[in-house]
Amino acid sequence: MSPLLFLLACAVACLFIWWLLIETEGVYLGKRAVIWLYDLYARRYDRVKQFDEYSDQLLLAEPLLDRISPQVDPLILDLATGSGRLPLLLARNGRFHGHVIGLDHSRKMLAVAGSKIEQERFQAFISLVRGDAMDLPFPDGAFDAVACLESLEFFPDPEAALAELARVLRPGGVLLTSNRIDMRWMPGRIVSRSRFTQILNACGMLSIEFETWQEDYDKVWARKAGGTESRRASAREPNAGLRNHR
Ligand SMILES: C[S@@+](CC[C@H](N)C(=O)[O-])C[C@H]1O[C@@H](n2cnc3c(N)ncnc32)[C@H](O)[C@@H]1O
Repeated sequence: MSPLLFLLACAVACLFIWWLLIETEGVYLGKRAVIWLYDLYARRYDRVKQFDEYSDQLLLAEPLLDRISPQVDPLILDLATGSGRLPLLLARNGRFHGHVIGLDHSRKMLAVAGSKIEQERFQAFISLVRGDAMDLPFPDGAFDAVACLESLEFFPDPEAALAELARVLRPGGVLLTSNRIDMRWMPGRIVSRSRFTQILNACGMLSIEFETWQEDYDKVWARKAGGTESRRASAREPNAGLRNHR
């Protein structure tokens, strides 16, 4: 092999490895690789993502609470909670008086979430559980709302994970999730809005709404078919607003 050809082969191999490990976050290498990479990445995750509290409150927490309203003490599951983005948004929001369970498979991501929850003294609002998206350790209909943000495409079987989310959601409960729309780098892992709708319908989800959200993701709302009664009926909190970090 000529030196030029050898260099070219090395460059292609490096690009491929970069794509497998960095660009697609190990998704084509299986669940263990994905979790291993998130364990490695956990301490840098928030710095890289640079979440904006104001826009996350406006675009995630507030509309979720609006949809659950008038119930103010819902039980919510945040699947693949990572560093605790959604549980912390809800706990900081003065309208929320319920409890969020954040589930993730990565010990290190959960450790980052746990230290933030402890620092802000939100233990009464948030519990963390280590588990697998494909086999949720909760009974049918246990939650008033379920969420799974920026994560479905990393699971071994996103459709099965959506079916699990629908299973643990009570009839009439709210689903908040995201559908990846950037198709350049994850072939076979991304579905169209119409296919996503079909998958959700097959899980018994109705009132499906897509919202343009971020460069890489649409936000998706749905409601599980069946009753509209809250798990625990309660009145709306009169003084809404952001709760001080405690
Ligand atoms: C991009 S992060 C999203 C975190 C969070 N939802 C957010 O919006 O910041 C993806 C998360 O999915 C978790 N994850 C990947 N595969 C999983 C699985 N099979 N079961 C549970 N969690 C998983 C990873 O550990 C990681 O924390």
